[in-house]
Amino acid sequence: MRRKITVVGAGNVGASVAQRLFDRGYADIVLVDIVEGLPQGKALDILESGPVVGSDARCIGTNGYEETANSDIVIITSGVARRPGMSRDDLLFTNMDIVGSVTREVVKRCPNCILLVVTNPLDAMTQHALEVLGFPRERVMGQSGILDTARFRTFLALELGVSVQDVHAYVLGGHGDTMVPLVGYTNVGGIPVERLLPKERLDKIVQRTRDGGGEIVALLKTGSAYYAPSAAVVQMVDAIVYDRKQVLPCCVYLNGEYGIKGLCVGVPVKLGAKGVEEIVQLDLRPEEAQALQRSAAAVRELVEKMHQRQAQAKAAS
Ligand code: LAC
Repeated sequence: MRRKITVVGAGNVGASVAQRLFDRGYADIVLVDIVEGLPQGKALDILESGPVVGSDARCIGTNGYEETANSDIVIITSGVARRPGMSRDDLLFTNMDIVGSVTREVVKRCPNCILLVVTNPLDAMTQHALEVLGFPRERVMGQSGILDTARFRTFLALELGVSVQDVHAYVLGGHGDTMVPLVGYTNVGGIPVERLLPKERLDKIVQRTRDGGGEIVALLKTGSAYYAPSAAVVQMVDAIVYDRKQVLPCCVYLNGEYGIKGLCVGVPVKLGAKGVEEIVQLDLRPEEAQALQRSAAAVRELVEKMHQRQAQAKAAS
């Protein structure tokens, strides 16, 4: 039997994820959105590409959650996206409510699923989903590091005139202005990138990576990126479905690893059929370790704001 994957949110990211997954053919897709007709229309359109792309998977759209029952993987993309001038953090409370209510629906019907969060601000939303679900941390993760790393690799490959596949890198930390591109672990075909580029060029590329999401928002004006984000989500799904045990930067709940406790932040993990099968601990340079702590502190601020808001709501009820 084919697997079942639910994608919640039929906006640009959700629909692109659904399309990429459908093309792979290894899972039936359920696309959920509250807007009447939108998930049904997009799902039918995707389904009708089957004869051309050679996929026999099913793809259905729905405004409810009945069809999502017993999904193996659930991907949450719903929420509002940034507009020019907004930071991801500006979305905190709006998207917290959306992710919270979606997650409560999911947990009732898919108690054994692996949950991937894509909604921003990514690290805080992953933490919120984890707290609402009460799942073990192995089965809840957020996508951001693959996207940030892909942007870093793209800019380096363009600068150096090499294949993107030869650029190896990691971007860790929160998915925001404080993200941490690990220059010390970046190499091109095994050659440390610091030997190939002068510091000021490298610094510019690091900064462009940090601003990568904002660069797209400024160009699109009415939304944020979705081609690269959806590709990044699907790389995580591939690693799970094929039990690849692939080391990928993902947002996961840390329990003391990297000196960070009780917080979801991006670090390299081994992804396989069981979800997060290991948290990979790299030896960081002192300045990179400090940058990761600063990034975690920025995420913790958001998480504390969410906790305060929950406490206020509880007191008021
Ligand atoms: C980005 C948004 C989607 O980085 O977070 O493009």
